[in-house]
Amino acid sequence: MKKLFLFGGTIVLVVIGAFFLFKFIFLNDTASEKTTDISELAARKALPLPPLLEDLNPDPNQAEFHLTAQKGKLEILDGVESQTLGYNGNYLGPVLRVREGEKVKVKMKNGLDEATTLHLHGLRVDGEMDGGPHSGIKPGERWEPEFTINQPAATLWYHPHMMEKTAKQVYEGLAGLIYIEDENSDQLAIPKEYGVNDFPIIIQDRQLDAFGSMEYDPGMNDVMMGLYGDTYLVNGAIKPYLEVPKGIVRLRLLNGSNGRTYHFELSNRSEFYQIASDGGLLEEPVEMTTLRQSPAERAEVLVDFSKFKTGDTVSLVDVSTDAKIELMEFVVTNKESGVNEIPTQLAKISHYDPNNAVKTRQFVMSGVGATLTINDKTMDMTRIDEEVKWNDTEIWEVTNQRTGIKGGMAHPFHLHGVQFQVIDRDGEKPPENETGWKDTILIQPGETVRIITSFKNKGIFMYHCHILEHEDAGMMGQYEVK
Ligand code: C2O
Ligand code: CU
Ligand code: CU
Repeated sequence: MKKLFLFGGTIVLVVIGAFFLFKFIFLNDTASEKTTDISELAARKALPLPPLLEDLNPDPNQAEFHLTAQKGKLEILDGVESQTLGYNGNYLGPVLRVREGEKVKVKMKNGLDEATTLHLHGLRVDGEMDGGPHSGIKPGERWEPEFTINQPAATLWYHPHMMEKTAKQVYEGLAGLIYIEDENSDQLAIPKEYGVNDFPIIIQDRQLDAFGSMEYDPGMNDVMMGLYGDTYLVNGAIKPYLEVPKGIVRLRLLNGSNGRTYHFELSNRSEFYQIASDGGLLEEPVEMTTLRQSPAERAEVLVDFSKFKTGDTVSLVDVSTDAKIELMEFVVTNKESGVNEIPTQLAKISHYDPNNAVKTRQFVMSGVGATLTINDKTMDMTRIDEEVKWNDTEIWEVTNQRTGIKGGMAHPFHLHGVQFQVIDRDGEKPPENETGWKDTILIQPGETVRIITSFKNKGIFMYHCHILEHEDAGMMGQYEVK
């Protein structure tokens, strides 16, 4: 009798175990969606503004920037210090502001006790200056890329790119913005006073341990699905507030998270206008109430605060989960932004004609969990996967192959060394806000996206999923332009 009972019990346990294993492998969508009140513990801080990095070259046509990757400490919750990393500071890095046509030199010092790289995400430079995994900088050493800015006004970013270390180093704080300005952005009547009516907004989710300290300690699920946290930082602070003038304000949004895709809204559901995508200004502002942003994507948006009274507040929220998450709060002041109209025209973009493409390449992103591949391969530093002829225009057809019962998960596909245009998503025209320059594009399970670009920089470049745990797991390949 006792034996029978034990036997029955074992079967029940095995069945339960199998169910959870099954659920884990096939039905896992977005990891932990629980909300905690942990953010209420933090005293409300003003939105931290990364400094604008001083250009040390007095020549207006040249710039020299000094960056040091270093260890730091960040107090996310009052009284609890987390070990972090930052460029020239404790967490994140300064904004590098450059102009089209400018000759730029960066002196990057590695002050960490592990190797790192400085990747210039979205910048059109040769492979040697791109800061990919081949450009490792040993502890205490320097790396000094030089390049000329050869692309229009945009909000780009920089972050490390060491093989298998990217997720950890970015998570711990290594990321910063690059602003490019040009003649067009100079003459446009849009907000452009840094920290006055033009604000950097870097959104990241983090996991705090029981003490409230931020540590990169991914569980198995984080490794498979990309890390999701239930503490949200904007420029390194929990639910900060930002005083904004009445009138029109420009927000430069970067999703600097490892794994999470956001759906941003204003808490009063009012409309805002996207004016730029990853690689620069759109042709016209795109009116929207929800903006989807996957890891590494940038969007510049204009928000009109003219209808608010002094002291009114409105929040930036994420509605990607059922729990509406408040990320930060805008407090409207009695100042004026000086810009009161949304412009009708922004930039001229010459569109590639798919008929001019000399080649179409296929890329299949596949897998959830242990094996994440592109074209059935995982990253190998010694293997060049694609050879591209310099100056050729090509179509890249990227498919996210369905896997598992739920079809798998969305992957943001990123291409180094270029800005591209989206031809179509499953044969349909892309949404308005994806008709400009892009370098990262979210691809849903089962979806095929066709992009087009010409390869005007030489060298070795990466293409990969920008869920950083996926990139580190090898969902990455290399192409060489000769
Ligand atoms: Cu944001 Cu391979 O980079
Ligand atoms: Cu990149
Ligand atoms: Cu991925």
